[in-house]
Amino acid sequence: MATIHPATENLFKLADRKLLIRGRTSRSGRVVVSGAKNSAVAVLPACLLAEGVSVVQNVPDIADVAVQRQILESLGAEVTDGAEPGELRIAAGDIGTEVPYNLAKQLRGSVLLLGPLVARKGRARVPLPGGCAIGSRPLDLHLKALRELGAEVEIEHGHIVARADRLVGTEVYLDFPSVGATENLIMAATAARGTTVVYNAAKEPEVVDLANFLNAMGARVVGAGTDTIKIEGGRELHPVEYTIIPDRIEAGTYLLMGLAGGGSVTVENVIPKHLEALLAKLEEAGVELAEGGDCITARLAGRPKALQLKTLPYPGFPTDLQPQLSAFLLLAEGTSVISERIFEDRFGHVDELKRLGGKIEIDGRTAVIEGVESLTGAPVTATDLRMGAALIIAGVAAQGETLIDGVEHILRGYERLEEKLAALGVDAAWVT
Ligand code: EPZ
Repeated sequence: MATIHPATENLFKLADRKLLIRGRTSRSGRVVVSGAKNSAVAVLPACLLAEGVSVVQNVPDIADVAVQRQILESLGAEVTDGAEPGELRIAAGDIGTEVPYNLAKQLRGSVLLLGPLVARKGRARVPLPGGCAIGSRPLDLHLKALRELGAEVEIEHGHIVARADRLVGTEVYLDFPSVGATENLIMAATAARGTTVVYNAAKEPEVVDLANFLNAMGARVVGAGTDTIKIEGGRELHPVEYTIIPDRIEAGTYLLMGLAGGGSVTVENVIPKHLEALLAKLEEAGVELAEGGDCITARLAGRPKALQLKTLPYPGFPTDLQPQLSAFLLLAEGTSVISERIFEDRFGHVDELKRLGGKIEIDGRTAVIEGVESLTGAPVTATDLRMGAALIIAGVAAQGETLIDGVEHILRGYERLEEKLAALGVDAAWVT
C-alpha cells in the first residue's frame, strides 16, 4: 500500500482548518519560490519512459505532486525522497497500465500518464481526470493526437482506454495550443517510429522543461517553446538526474500578495523572463520593479492604476494568474476590464471577492472591476487553487479579518504556505 505522502497528510490535517488573514499589515517581505507544480506533474510521469532510477530535484512538496507520486506507485514504480529537500528518486521497473480512479479524480495532471504508458507499454487505462472547477476541460486534443500516432483510443466507463501495437511518427496540428495535449503528444512520440511534428504546440515554460527532461533522457525533441515541435522517435531512453524550473505562477501570486498588503515584496529563485506578461501589466499599473538575476522586487506607493487585460496562451498573460490579478485590481484607481480567453468558467472568485466589498460584474468571459477605496474582511470559501490564492490576496488588501475555508484547494499548489505568508509579512493564522 502506498504510504501517505507528508503533503497529503498535511493536506488532510489542515483540510478541517481555516486560514485567518488580518489585512493591511504593510511590511516588506521576501519569498523563495518553489519548483513548478506544472513541470513536476508532467516530469514525474515522464520518468516512466525509461527503466531504472531517475532523480528529479526542486520538486515542490504539495498535494498535487503527492497524488501524482501515489499514481506512479500504484503503477508499480518506486518513489522515494532523495537526500536533498525537493528531491525525488523514481525507480521505474516493470509497470502496470491502469491508473486508479480514486487518485486520478484528484488532479487534472493524472491525464499525463496517458502518453508515457502508451509509449512504454503500448496500452493505458486512465480515468477521465478531475481537477479544478474552471470549465468543461475536454480532452479531445489529447485523444486526437494519440490516434494520429496510430493508437486506438476509446472512452469506456469513464476511462480513456488506449492501445497501440506500434506508434508511427506523423504530423499533428493542435486546434488549440493545449499544454496537456502537447505534453502527452511529445511523450508518446518519443516511442513512435520516425519523426513527429506538432504544429500549434503550447509554448509554456513547463512544456520546455518537459522537453529538456526528455532530451536529458536521450530523446530528440527540437523546437519546444515555439509553436512547432519535432520529435525523433524510437531512441533508447535512459534514467536521468534533472532539476525542474521555478514556479512562475507561485512567483506571480506572491508578488501580487505582497503588493496588495501595501509593502514591497521580493521573490527569489525565479526566471524573470517567465513572468514578462505579468511584469508588463504591473508596470502599467504603476508598480516599481527591480530585477536582479533570479529575483524580482516590486513596490507600489498608493493604489494601482486600472488595467485592460486578456488571458492568452504563453507568452500572453497566464490564465493561472487571472484570479490573483483581479483581486489585486479591486483597489485600483478606475475601472479594469479582464477577459478570460482560456477557460470558459474561471470567475468562481468573483462572488467571494464581492463579499469583501469588491465591485465586479461579469459579462460572459469578461469581468469589469470598478476600483474601490477600501475592502473589508469577510468569511469566504475557496473552491479551486488559484481562486483560493486570490482570496488570500484580497484578504491581505482588506481592513480587518478574512476567514478562508477550503484551504485544501490552495495547498494543492502552494508549498509551505504558512511559512511563505509569514516571510511576506502577512498576518495569518490557522483556526479550526
Ligand atoms: C494546464 O492545464 C495547467 N495544468 C493549467 O494550470 C493551466 O491553466 C493550463 O495548462 C493553461 O495554461 C497543468 O499543467 C497540470 P490546456 P491543461 O489543455 O493542460 C482547451 C493550475 O492552476 N482544451 O492548455 O488542462 C481547454 O478546455 C492549472 O495550475 C480542449 O479544448 O490546459 C482550455 O479551454 C489550472 N481540448 C484550453 O484548451 C483538449 O483536449 C487550455 O487547456 C485540451 C484542452
